[in-house]
Amino acid sequence: MSAAVITLETQTDQSHKLIIHPPSIGLSLQGCIRVPGDKSISHRALMLGAIAQGETQIEGLLLGEDPRSTASCFQAMGAQISQLNTELVRVQGIGLGQLQEPIDVLNAGNSGTTLRLMLGLLASHPGRFFTVTGDSSLRSRPMSRVVQPLQQMGAQIWGRKGNSLAPLAIQGQTLKPIHYYSPIASAQVKSCLLLAGLFTPGETTITEPALSRDHSERMLRAFGAQLTIDPDTNSVTLNGLAQLHGQKVIVPGDISSAAFWLVAGAIVPDSELVIQNVGVNPTRTGILEALALMGADIQLENQREVAGEPVADLRVRSSALKSCTIGGDIIPRMIDEIPILAVAAVFATGTTIIRDAAELRVKESDRITVMAQQLNKMGAKVNELPDGMEITGGTPLVGTDLDSYTDHRIAMSLAIASLVANGITTIHRAEAAAISYPDFTATLTKVVC
Ligand code: S3P
Repeated sequence: MSAAVITLETQTDQSHKLIIHPPSIGLSLQGCIRVPGDKSISHRALMLGAIAQGETQIEGLLLGEDPRSTASCFQAMGAQISQLNTELVRVQGIGLGQLQEPIDVLNAGNSGTTLRLMLGLLASHPGRFFTVTGDSSLRSRPMSRVVQPLQQMGAQIWGRKGNSLAPLAIQGQTLKPIHYYSPIASAQVKSCLLLAGLFTPGETTITEPALSRDHSERMLRAFGAQLTIDPDTNSVTLNGLAQLHGQKVIVPGDISSAAFWLVAGAIVPDSELVIQNVGVNPTRTGILEALALMGADIQLENQREVAGEPVADLRVRSSALKSCTIGGDIIPRMIDEIPILAVAAVFATGTTIIRDAAELRVKESDRITVMAQQLNKMGAKVNELPDGMEITGGTPLVGTDLDSYTDHRIAMSLAIASLVANGITTIHRAEAAAISYPDFTATLTKVVC
């Protein structure tokens, strides 16, 4: 057995070049790994902790750049947050409606979840003025999906391009409750409005066309919010003005990070990986269903419930993959895993079709265009569709120069593809992985043998 050579080089502009040279034969992946804490749950734990009364303790927080952005925004508004670590983070909450007006611009960095969820809270703080921004990727992402329903609630928000792009300025108001029928299945939209509803008298209802991740609903309930869920109509109603109380939150491993190892273990021959302590909330497990359709050998072991979220250990063994067709309601349950699913499809027999995933075009990058371009550079056959991709598997990949486009999930997806390419792959701007998975390269180095 001979291992791949994996090196990370820091460039003069501080960006990183990840260079992967797999051996021509004999590479396999073996071992037992833990992935970092779930990004969505980490954001919500910090935010609810900040606006609850009393102390919130968070175990297993993701120490990636995105939750760090959330922590610094809420510290700037008066929450006390102990040093960030995975063992135990303590948040001293300031109570409902008590966020202080920050003396500077709140910067959400690369994090759409930070900016969109926070907007709901800021818009509902009467008498305070806030300005929010983010990095160049976030400043180009659509904010009208939250600004418009917040305006229907009476929010005052200003920004470029008809108030649709950050930087945004917010004059907090007492809002009025609405029933919002969201045109897209988006947990960020739903959560933004639920958070706005917290400090709004009356019932705020959100109905989505398909169910998006429900971490906000679960955690809001645990913190004491009054919430009713109608699963038949994908609706959630929050009764405003209930005080939240600090809780102990245990953050499970992120299935979106585990997905890289699930696909790696499936496509690298003679591999077996166990990924421990992964969140398997049914609103997130679309990737397990899609990989099962493709014939992947993945077992869920030791299934349990931890602090209100289902958790399991996932065992993957390599197997021959076949194509699949996915679209519809499964897409919101695996939206962040589609770049790595595209990599699996490149190694599957037949043509995989992914539809109804136009949302990918407004993520940290245009993930349809970028994945198609980068995989095609390696010799894959990927056609862009307006709302997805058509991927014909079975052509061998060749290592080449690739770019992450500063998108964490693109950087990691390409790294997994390069394990099964002939020759050397160089991924530019690979430091993006630290947004959600700071130890990605270390873990990659550990599992190759
Ligand atoms: C997230 C929701 C998803 C997802 C994002 C995190 C969240 O976005 O893509 O990475 O934590 O609510 P949308 O809800 O906009 O689809």
